[in-house]
Amino acid sequence: MLTSNRALYERAVKVIPAGVTRPFRFFEPYPFYARRAYGCRLVDVEGNEYVDYWMGHGALVLGHMPKCVVDAVKEQLDLGFHFGVCNEWEVKLAEEVCKLVPSVEMIRFNNSGTEANMHAIRLARAYTKRMKVGKFAGHFHGVLEPLYVAVNWPWDEPESAGIDPLATKNTVILPFNDLDTCSKIIKKEELACVFFEPVQGAACVPAEKEFIKGLREVCDQTGTLLIADEVITGFRLAPGGGQEVLGIKPDLTTFGKAIGGGEFPVGAVGGRKDIMELMDHTKHPKRSENVAQGGTYSGNPLVMRAGYAAMQEYKKKDVYNSMNNLGGRLKTGLQDILERIGIEGYVAGLGSMVKIHFLKEKAKNDDLQTLLSKVHKEREIKYFYHLVSNKILAMAPGKVHFFISYPHTREDIDNLITVTENFVKSIK
Ligand SMILES: Cc1ncc(COP(=O)(O)O)c(C=O)c1O
Repeated sequence: MLTSNRALYERAVKVIPAGVTRPFRFFEPYPFYARRAYGCRLVDVEGNEYVDYWMGHGALVLGHMPKCVVDAVKEQLDLGFHFGVCNEWEVKLAEEVCKLVPSVEMIRFNNSGTEANMHAIRLARAYTKRMKVGKFAGHFHGVLEPLYVAVNWPWDEPESAGIDPLATKNTVILPFNDLDTCSKIIKKEELACVFFEPVQGAACVPAEKEFIKGLREVCDQTGTLLIADEVITGFRLAPGGGQEVLGIKPDLTTFGKAIGGGEFPVGAVGGRKDIMELMDHTKHPKRSENVAQGGTYSGNPLVMRAGYAAMQEYKKKDVYNSMNNLGGRLKTGLQDILERIGIEGYVAGLGSMVKIHFLKEKAKNDDLQTLLSKVHKEREIKYFYHLVSNKILAMAPGKVHFFISYPHTREDIDNLITVTENFVKSIK
């Protein structure tokens, strides 16, 4: 063995805060460091192999190292992979996204979901000439200040030290799936936009169809732009993302993760032409009338080409049939365990996003606020480590949820159900 997880961690803590590049990558007593990945498997530096449901934070819809992406990237590596100027692959990827996601008439690429949301806010403010931004309690849109508010329960605590209160003073918090309250707030506040996740990521709680339909209507009545954050759900729930499944047409959509084939840093904002054209400096030459967007690596040919290759797979029905069927199988299996063994909990999810909520007491199904407020934190943490000890990696300690990808099999899902059943029996 060349190195061990422990040895790497001991070096890491000296030069990286907590030894990790993101807090929830820390596991007790120390994290493992991955060396290799393929399909739905992840192998650490000690050779331990895990069935992966973390799946690159949900990005890897086609799994680790999908052949189509690897082949495309290999070809591009020989041609150059950071031109700085325009390249054919950004055009091809933009065309594909506009075809697959009908609400997207135009698109600009950047390097992360966080960045995409930053650009979306600026577009909305420029278009509506309003400054306030609506977001749902419990929804995560990256760590940019106007949206990094009321993410983790309880909502009343600031999400981070160092946030300028002025940067969040125009943020208006809305209750998810509660149309009456949202309508009242939106009618009163004169918002530039409302951001929503079609399925709240970590809790896997979907928007109710009637709710989202009503939200669309109230946004139309009040001149508020509706922005779908499809950083997770885009190309995961369907080729057209969560908006296809929910039957909704947002004004703007933000993407990340799977839009670049899942293996690279990427983001994008797209939507209605009349809004997106605010980024067109040839139509809006005056600096103060043009929405600024940038990024050294935006539209990088390696990433764009990987995304284009992945799109050819996303167009195939089989990808989503397989992932959604496995998601349904997992949901039913987990629900059955809770009912049979008699442990308080609820299984949430849509398509390939599934979560078992261990609860202290009964909560209303798919009510994000009560689910999060009643979570049995100790059980959630214990469950994570039980899975890890059975060589299953879920995302993440204390917030266990599963991203199913195309390479997962029925056997993988059945094994996950059996391992969960053993856990639930052990805590009964
Ligand atoms: C719904 C959602 N929006 C935005 C982001 C931020 O994306 P990124 O991590 O690429 O900045 C994430 C990240 O997980 C996300 O889940």
